[in-house]
Amino acid sequence: MMPEVMPCLVPKLASAAEYFFKMGVEGKRFRPTVLLHMASALNMPIPWSATDNLFGSLSGDLRTRQQRIAEITEMIHVASLLHDDVLDDADTRRGIGSLNIVMGNKLSVLAGDFLLSRACIALSSLGNTEVVSLMATAVEHLVNGETMQMTTSAEKRCSMEYYLQKTFYKTASLISNSCKCVAILAGQTAEVSMLAYNYGQNLGLAYQLIDDVLDFTGTSSSLGKGSLSDIRHGIVTAPILFAIEEYPQLRKIVDRGLKEPADIDIALDYLEKSQGIKKTKELAAVHADHAIKAIDAFPESDNENVHISRRALVDLTHRVLTRTK
Ligand code: FPP
Ligand code: FPP
Ligand code: MG
Ligand code: MG
Repeated sequence: MMPEVMPCLVPKLASAAEYFFKMGVEGKRFRPTVLLHMASALNMPIPWSATDNLFGSLSGDLRTRQQRIAEITEMIHVASLLHDDVLDDADTRRGIGSLNIVMGNKLSVLAGDFLLSRACIALSSLGNTEVVSLMATAVEHLVNGETMQMTTSAEKRCSMEYYLQKTFYKTASLISNSCKCVAILAGQTAEVSMLAYNYGQNLGLAYQLIDDVLDFTGTSSSLGKGSLSDIRHGIVTAPILFAIEEYPQLRKIVDRGLKEPADIDIALDYLEKSQGIKKTKELAAVHADHAIKAIDAFPESDNENVHISRRALVDLTHRVLTRTK
């Protein structure tokens, strides 16, 4: 998935950065799959005035340029995972030892920076400033989201609005902005580009809500990572927020910081007797529905391949809701 990598002057850096691009540890490749289907779903004749012909002819054909967005998105994603595992002091990722454990925190941070810089170079080669701006915004949002999660007041920690904003930054912004970039490269109108963005945004929110459910209901082996990790780190997610709405007395426990194992057990007891998991799944379903509506609103096409990819995007949305890992 890494684009033909330019030679790196520091071999250790290159081998660290390539760690999660090797066969078998490439992850679900959820984002590139979405983006390549988005490219096909919007593959329709566009009035000449709206196309990107000049840049298109200068920097490769449309499909290649959209594929570049998929590669760049995955590089940004993996860069954020490398940094995330340092921040979270994680020991496994994608079922193997995380890079921070294998090569240390310092090299992990630098490998993430290296991937990010390679993503910037690939991005600039597309020669489209709007696309550069959208992807740079997504990177800023990743940092915002992570920081919002790390440094919150007791008040904000229990606010659903704050949680959803943080979730948008941390999870949905990268896929929504990259979907929009695919549409822009295809020369689609602002309206269609916004539908692509809305699809990504709602898919991302649904995905993270289910991820937050799986953190409570999944097992280490099925997730490829430890479960209950959010609550053990004092991170309050949607299931607990819904449980607090039902049992306000849980708020007091959460406000104590969830530092004591006994408090975590109490919170889990409340969660179990509450509708927290069910309500989180319902909210994910609402966002999945918005995502599907965005695809349904795409301009009509009689091209069978366009329809196949639109159906795939809808199927993916369903699968986000039913996944168990
Ligand atoms: C996983 O979260 C991590 C993220 C969604 C993004 C992390 C972002 C940063 C560390 C900011 C730096 C960004 C870049 C581009 C270098 P998680 O810990 O909830 O999920 P996990 O269970 O998969 O670890
Ligand atoms: C690891 O990504 C987990 C995170 C970065 C947390 C937030 C992101 C998501 C839940 C994915 C949202 C993406 C879309 C397209 C809706 P991952 O679970 O994708 O891990 P992987 O790359 O190792 O498969
Ligand atoms: Mg983590
Ligand atoms: Mg984290």
